[in-house]
Amino acid sequence: MNLFADTLLSWYDQHKRSMPWRDIRNPYATWVSEIMLQQTRVETVVPYFLRFMADFPDLKSLAEAVEDDVLKHWEGLGYYSRARNLHAGAKQVMADYGGALPSQPELLQKIKGVGAYTAGAIASIAFGIPTPAVDGNVIRVISRIKGIRENAMDPAVKQKITEQVTQIIPADRPGDFNQALMDLGATICVPGTPDCGSCPMRDLCSAYAAGDAEELPNLPQRTPPKRIPWHVLLVRREKSVLVHKRTESMLNGLWTFVMIPETKKPDALSREAERLTGISLENLRACGTARHVFTHQIWEMQLWHADATSGTPRSDWRFVTQEEMDGLALPSAMNAARRKAFEPVEGKE
Ligand code: ADE
Repeated sequence: MNLFADTLLSWYDQHKRSMPWRDIRNPYATWVSEIMLQQTRVETVVPYFLRFMADFPDLKSLAEAVEDDVLKHWEGLGYYSRARNLHAGAKQVMADYGGALPSQPELLQKIKGVGAYTAGAIASIAFGIPTPAVDGNVIRVISRIKGIRENAMDPAVKQKITEQVTQIIPADRPGDFNQALMDLGATICVPGTPDCGSCPMRDLCSAYAAGDAEELPNLPQRTPPKRIPWHVLLVRREKSVLVHKRTESMLNGLWTFVMIPETKKPDALSREAERLTGISLENLRACGTARHVFTHQIWEMQLWHADATSGTPRSDWRFVTQEEMDGLALPSAMNAARRKAFEPVEGKE
């Protein structure tokens, strides 16, 4: 008799959310969905998942895709290293396992981008192996129900939570059990104020009994994101605008416009842009501001229009038309600049 699992699973059987990756036994689809769902809400993921599976229906097609195309399918979803790792992981599974994902969590964790959580999710959901999948939702739910009040960021505490789940997880429905914990955490046992009135686990919940569910899990204050000011230049030549494929680890492989740190004085902008891109420019005019919040950074952007006068773009830089730009993956941080990239120039037709 496992009251915890029985109670949770009967609730799940009645309230389970419908999702396109559920009720199919396809380890590749489980992998793709679990990677997309990291730090991202289900409603956001659904259309991305459907497009991705339509265009890369199996592991082989993903392994054979070009990276730019994979990143384009991730455009707007954020945390782009997930897409690069998934792509690299697919190649690895082709080479090491002939295209069939292994079922053991220890082997899954050797695949690029697959950590303990994702390995547990794939093993339990796609292969029916009773193994935990502990993400932020599960940490919250278990901290509350089991009354774990130590710092939940401490690896030893996460280990304790993992052990708690390992003891409860039922051998006959491990994937449903893990997903039931996730659903409970996403819909009822939410961060901040949980909806204890609707919770099937209330009678088993230590935090409910103690009245401190809102304070759990015990997470230390995160350091606030760092403010980074930028100048973003829309350098135009005829019907094209200058773009750059990033090689920095943040947003690696995505395309941006000319970006210059704000420490450069505005009158040094043209010179700095030329040094960076190989293109000289004139007629620099401010055209708005934009702001984008990442997990660890906030980009505060001053946007500029400018006309290219001469020069050849250095490698990694290209003039692209609107149509060409539509085929490139740009991060959401560039959305405001992107809308202005092809605006008609004042005083010209
Ligand atoms: N979050 C991450 N994976 C999930 C899943 N399989 N079901 C619901 N929420 C999730």
